[in-house]
Amino acid sequence: MKALVINGPNINMLGIREPDVYGRKTYADLLAFIERTAAEEGMEVECFQSNHEGAIVDKIQEALGVFDGIVINPAAYTHTSIAILDALKAAALPAVEVHISDVDSREAFRHVSYAGMACEKRFSGLGFEGYRQALLYLKERGL
Ligand code: DQA
Repeated sequence: MKALVINGPNINMLGIREPDVYGRKTYADLLAFIERTAAEEGMEVECFQSNHEGAIVDKIQEALGVFDGIVINPAAYTHTSIAILDALKAAALPAVEVHISDVDSREAFRHVSYAGMACEKRFSGLGFEGYRQALLYLKERGL
């Protein structure tokens, strides 16, 4: 099982941005957590982060035939990007949506998730643990 983990805009600012919302751990900490989880679960994982919508669309398209599943935290693009939704639908790989914070208990504009419409599962508000749950879901789901 080879999973692609995609993080959207400002996730590279973890540890600096709004620590009351996202915590004090950095993006490097998140990468280490994901890589450790994948190793423990016997999964292959590649992590990708971009602040650019088109780069995320390109990466999702390129995942076809390379990865077995996608874990995606589209960050702010969650709530705006039909292009990311369409790319997930086009690649048609099993996808899981992750949010570090609990988006449903925040501002109303965060309650809409376009990307989520192409995802089988969502983990929101669990911090880094959400990424672990998403990887486990893909592993247990199989192909
Ligand atoms: C986020 C939630 C989004 O609303 C926000 O724009 C982000 C991060 C999260 O992980 O909690 O940048 O996706």
